[in-house]
Amino acid sequence: MEGLKDLLDARITETVATTRDGNGESNAAPMGLVRDGDVYARLWEGSTTLENVRATNQVVVNFTRDPVVYVETAMDDGSGFVVDGRLRDADGWIRCDAESVEEKRDEVTRWRLTERERNVEERILPTHSRGFASVIEATVHATRLSFKPELRELYEHHIDVARKCGGEREREAVDRLVEHVEG
Ligand SMILES: Cc1cc2nc3c(=O)[nH]c(=O)nc-3n(C[C@H](O)[C@H](O)[C@H](O)COP(=O)(O)O)c2cc1C
Repeated sequence: MEGLKDLLDARITETVATTRDGNGESNAAPMGLVRDGDVYARLWEGSTTLENVRATNQVVVNFTRDPVVYVETAMDDGSGFVVDGRLRDADGWIRCDAESVEEKRDEVTRWRLTERERNVEERILPTHSRGFASVIEATVHATRLSFKPELRELYEHHIDVARKCGGEREREAVDRLVEHVEG
């Protein structure tokens, strides 16, 4: 098995990482997987995910279609969504070892991920929703607004698209996102 790569077509695939600290406390946060020869996570200094990966060299990569999970795990610790070290309602998850490798930028760390255990719960027909995509975009921008305020216009644009094109879960996700950002 090629390990992870056979699942990932895009250069960057959005997932939700679940990790544990040295005492076994869980954390969840969105994480883009970079396919660049091998598969890498690039983790910015300051996140709990990075702290936990440094402590354990382990990460579980979760695949979910739930936009609310992306919002809540990005804006809060997300531990309420975690069961047995993985996302409760994930369509699938992969336990990986994470090995630190060289990265050019100072504020980012790079980790090569090696698949150890794969679980696929759901096989679904692929559909594409601009609403879901816009929740992801709005959430990425929301996590950067504090140091890049010029992203606000894009953030607001994607909130509008999510409300216009998304379903109930997308509308709930953006309502929660706006509460986190404005509240
Ligand atoms: C779709 C999406 C993808 C993200 N990908 C990454 C990533 O690859 N690396 C990273 O350091 N932060 C990424 N972030 C931002 C983190 O998820 C965010 O900073 C989060 O608050 C970190 O939570 P933690 O402190 O619980 O780890 C992403 C956010 C979103 C919404």
